[in-house]
Amino acid sequence: VSAGPVGVGIIGAGVISAQYLTALTTFPDVRVLFVADIDLDRAKSRADEFGVAGSGTVDELLAIDEIEIVVNLTIPAAHVEVGERILAAGKHVWSEKPIGLDRPSVARLLATGEASGLRVACAPDTVLGAGVQTALRAIAAGDIGTPLSATTMMLGPGPEAWHPAPEFLFAVGGGPLLDMGPYYLTTLVLALGSVERVAAAASTASLTRTIGSGPRAGTEFPVEVPTHTSALLRFVDGGSAQSTFSFQSALPRSGFLEITGTDGVLVLPDPNTFSGATTLWRRGSDASVQIEPIGSAAGRGTGVLDLARAIRSGKPERASGELASHVLDVMLSIGEAAQSGEYVLVDSRAPLTVPLDAEWDPAEATLEA
Ligand SMILES: NC(=O)c1ccc[n+]([C@@H]2O[C@H](COP(=O)([O-])OP(=O)(O)OC[C@H]3O[C@@H](n4cnc5c(N)ncnc54)[C@H](O)[C@@H]3O)[C@@H](O)[C@H]2O)c1
Repeated sequence: VSAGPVGVGIIGAGVISAQYLTALTTFPDVRVLFVADIDLDRAKSRADEFGVAGSGTVDELLAIDEIEIVVNLTIPAAHVEVGERILAAGKHVWSEKPIGLDRPSVARLLATGEASGLRVACAPDTVLGAGVQTALRAIAAGDIGTPLSATTMMLGPGPEAWHPAPEFLFAVGGGPLLDMGPYYLTTLVLALGSVERVAAAASTASLTRTIGSGPRAGTEFPVEVPTHTSALLRFVDGGSAQSTFSFQSALPRSGFLEITGTDGVLVLPDPNTFSGATTLWRRGSDASVQIEPIGSAAGRGTGVLDLARAIRSGKPERASGELASHVLDVMLSIGEAAQSGEYVLVDSRAPLTVPLDAEWDPAEATLEA
């Protein structure tokens, strides 16, 4: 297919699929055609809930010619394997984060995509929302002068209280660093550039947790990864940041992201949301200025739409696999630094990413058949 709306299939009908389907089924430039899951009943009830015509197995989805992008909403441990199957079927990949669990398999996934002329794009797409994009535009406009440093905080008790299947959030590929890190670290990379070096300390408060909701509430499961990580980051351009990611704090403090430049400070909205105002504190002024978010707040699926339009126009997608793989490299390096107690050098670099136009409108039909 080379024109018209882009056919989309979804693999993984769990918790987050509802948010994706809510947005994707309203965008005129994409058509959601099928929902697949290893749990066929779950796939069918999600498809029915959102009026999607087909549901069934992953193989059935991959056999549908009209599907050009497959949205991979499986758990982190399955992201690369499912991504490889999508590419082998000749389709573009949108993956939930983290893009994978290790550097070599993600490098192979990206190389396979490249060699096949297929794209591999990855969440988070919250960074394409009006909130973070407005802040990035303010930085580009010079509102804080030259960006120098940043502080981010994401602390809370952990998601096992509300997620009905939280095991993956405490397994390899999860923990506060790999689960929540992508929102904060992708924003920092877009604002301050690539990371070149990290140091860190981490801890694990408890070796087991207990599911708090759903049919398996009360079930104990193992914690395989640190549940608190503090990191120090050095950027290639000379900037620095300190970031805390915690699932072991009784006091929730998420969405804290401040960027300080030579002339001022920007307090960003929660990077795990699509909107929210930014506050600007200028050097030498006692009063702050509120910058209202401008742009789209269409929610999860925004990056899939950007990918669909990018495929049709031959331009790069914004939430690229390369960007996600740099962020994964940074997160794995933070984990390694916490273990060794040494600085870890980060070799990968993020591509330059063009911001979205303030007028970018998901509701517009731009792809005529
Ligand atoms: N839950 C959230 O709030 C949230 C928010 C943002 C991103 N995410 C990300 O979305 C992804 C999914 O999270 P979730 O909370 O929806 O998890 P979930 O466990 O609720 O759903 C995952 C679904 O994938 C299916 N699945 C697993 N392996 C599969 C495979 N090999 N083939 C086909 N189906 C498979 C499972 O049966 C399940 O229905 C994760 O990467 C997570 O980090 C979740």
